[in-house]
Amino acid sequence: MDFKEELKKYQNIVEKELEKYIRKDACPERILNESVEYSLMAGGKRLRPILVLATYSLFKKDIEKCMPFAMAVEMVHNFSLIHDDLPGIDNDDFRHGKLTNHKKFNEATAILAGDSLLNQAYIVISETLLNAENKYDLELKIKAFNEFSLAIDRLIAGEYVDTEFEGKDVSLEYLEYNYNNKTGALIKLCVRLGAILASAQNEDLEKLTKYAEKIGLAFQIKDDILSVEGDELITGKPVGNDEAKGKCTYISKYGLEEAKRTLKELIDESVSIAESYGENAEFLKQLALYIMNRNK
Ligand code: IPE
Ligand code: IPE
Ligand code: MG
Ligand code: MG
Repeated sequence: MDFKEELKKYQNIVEKELEKYIRKDACPERILNESVEYSLMAGGKRLRPILVLATYSLFKKDIEKCMPFAMAVEMVHNFSLIHDDLPGIDNDDFRHGKLTNHKKFNEATAILAGDSLLNQAYIVISETLLNAENKYDLELKIKAFNEFSLAIDRLIAGEYVDTEFEGKDVSLEYLEYNYNNKTGALIKLCVRLGAILASAQNEDLEKLTKYAEKIGLAFQIKDDILSVEGDELITGKPVGNDEAKGKCTYISKYGLEEAKRTLKELIDESVSIAESYGENAEFLKQLALYIMNRNK
């Protein structure tokens, strides 16, 4: 399998599908919709929806069945990015190589664009679950909806503690709590949704949850590393901003080398889990390695 090609294929599927949700009508809130489009279509890596699709396809081939869920997590992700960049949170001016939403539009619009994306995610999910053609049993539908809501609850809690911890040297336990919530929860949700919607056995769900927890924590450690030694022209967001804000990170606490060591350990562990699924999970294995080696 050519991972890069496969990743591109998935990214193209996600881009095309997201386009369908862009609101283009001439209405009084047209600019709000433009600001949603501005962020949603700004060229993110789309790793979260891809995780839903790739996990689902470990068990079943009709990936279009979980597509609305993949779209919904990408909407939630973009809501979190718009709000994360706001002056009251990280106060960042650039993302994806472009002005952040509040810089391009204004704060009120950015707050509401985030709200709108979060709510649109719920519309997409509830309409999918209501669809009579959707043959999932009621318990599975409620389970998927509940997992979705609980993950967002954790993301919000994580973002809160992240701001609360600014300028403080917190314990490793609290630092991991922060990462596992602000970043890990949504990544774990993606993998679990993929497995749940494909009616995976409990044993698989547990195993894949472990994979997701490891890549989730690894993802944020890599994000911290890129905030130190990334290239702004490639990441599209500011470098050095964590330090400037006095963020407590793996790097501020343990240094760059130790952060890289922990990152590698987590990725090695997630790779072993993926390997237990053999050839079938080659993409998930390569995706874990990509999370470690990415430069954006
Ligand atoms: C950035 O996530 C925010 C974190 C949770 C660290 P990504 O790096 O996945 O964001 P995009 O969508 O690809 O830009
Ligand atoms: C990541 O926050 C988590 C969320 C956005 C929910 P960060 O503040 O660490 O991510 P970047 O570096 O701004 O993308
Ligand atoms: Mg932040
Ligand atoms: Mg930030």
